[in-house]
Order: sequence, then C-alpha cells, then structure tokens
Amino acid sequence: MRILFLGDVVGRSGRDAVTATLPALRTELRADLVIINGENASHGFGLGPDMAQALFIAGADVITLGNHAWDRKELIPYIAQEPRVIRPLNFPPGTPGAGSFVVALADGRRALVLQAMGRLFMDPLDDPFRTTAELLGRYKLGASIAAIVADFHAEATSEKLSYAHSFDGAVSLVVGTHTHVPSADHQILPGGTAYQSDAGMCGDYDSVIGMAKQGAATRFWTKMPGERLQPADGEATICGLLVVTDDRTGLALGAEPLRRGGRLSQATPVL
Ligand SMILES: [Fe+2]
Ligand SMILES: [Fe+2]
Repeated sequence: MRILFLGDVVGRSGRDAVTATLPALRTELRADLVIINGENASHGFGLGPDMAQALFIAGADVITLGNHAWDRKELIPYIAQEPRVIRPLNFPPGTPGAGSFVVALADGRRALVLQAMGRLFMDPLDDPFRTTAELLGRYKLGASIAAIVADFHAEATSEKLSYAHSFDGAVSLVVGTHTHVPSADHQILPGGTAYQSDAGMCGDYDSVIGMAKQGAATRFWTKMPGERLQPADGEATICGLLVVTDDRTGLALGAEPLRRGGRLSQATPVL
C-alpha cells in the first residue's frame, strides 16, 4: 500500500496549497491512502467542516486533529457524523468523535488510522501508550487490516521515539505531528515500522510554526499575550511522508519525505 501522510495544514496558505496540489500529487505518487492533519486549517486554530469537506474532495481519506481539535466549535457536531475525521484516542471517555477509523480502499484493502496525543509539554491526558495498545489489541496487522498508521501528536521527540519503538512491528507507520517542523530522521525501525519524528506542516515557513513571525516573536520579547496570532500568508510548503508497505505483513518497505512548494528545500519521494 502506498500511504501519503501530510502534516498539519496551517491557515489559508496551507489549505490552498493542499487543495490545489493534492489531486495531481495523489496521482503522481500513486497514493492508495492519503491522511492529512487538519488541526490548524482554520486560521491556525481548528478545522471548519467546510474545510474538512474541501480536503476530502481534494483527495484526503482521513483527517486527523490534535490539541486544536475543538478550536472551531462547529466541528463538534460534525465529527459525530463524519467518522473520517478523528481526534486523539486518549481524550477522556465521552469526548465526541473517535480516535481511529478503518478506511476501506476501492480495491477492498482496509487500513486502520489512529491518532494519539503525547503528554510531555502538552495538556494532561490519558496514557497514549496504553490506550494505543488497547486499540491495537483489537486488530491484526497483515491479516484483515493491510496497514496501520498512527499519528502521534506530540511535542517531545523523546516521547515520539519511545512511542514508535513501543509499537515497532505492530503498525506500518508512526508519524509525529504538532511541532510543524519536518525532521530528517525518516527511517524504517528494526521491526519494520516506518517512522518520522515530525512530518512538518503544510504552511508558510517564513513564519513561527505557521503564524506571522512578528506577533509570535513579541510574546517571547515581552512576556505579554499580545494580539491573537495570525497565520502567515506566504506560499506554503507541503510537507509529508510517503510510505510503501507490504500488504502481506503490513510492514514498511520504504519511507521518503515530501516537501513541495514554498521556501523549504524540495523533496520528492522516489519509491
Ligand atoms: Fe499543529
Ligand atoms: Fe498541535
């Protein structure tokens, strides 16, 4: 299975780049499954239902969220009736929506997509390790489920690596989101799980993690909250990862980064 994962879409710049590029990109990369983190699509904070719809029309199969899941309140009723949008599975019991979704591809193959959120330098939450292990106990990689993708939404690389090594061999891909900076550590772990500490964002990199740099820097200089941060509006770089898996085992055969457009060095997966 060819799996394309795109990191946090930030603001109009990120949305426009992804909706304009993804239809052709999906064909170019022969992606069977496309997963996008959409937690910052709405002006940097949350995801509007109309924006989720636009990402689905452009070619997303599943949209993941994160700590900004509920910044747009309209998403709360929307997620209850749109299972292709998932939020972290370790949110408290009773939270709207679900933390995972099984995608059925047109050819009949099925993939499980899940999201968990880290706890280091993040809001207090249930244990992402044990809640993920409980969920995975209900699925068998390589049998009825051809691939399993885990979006680990976290700040600290130590927690991300600990999570990835914990599930090495049990999932196809662990990819980090939330920092908005792509890491250069994409690899296949010894057990066969593809990994990247952070996919990076789909947004303008002449910014502070997607937000206008002046306002963001002022907070550090003055320790004052200042005005609400605005997303940077320059050309976005689409950042993500292409992973190819073996359907018989569900494990990764290759993992290569994608960086397209905007100001970051360009990278096209050769897989
Ligand atoms: Fe984010
Ligand atoms: Fe986040």
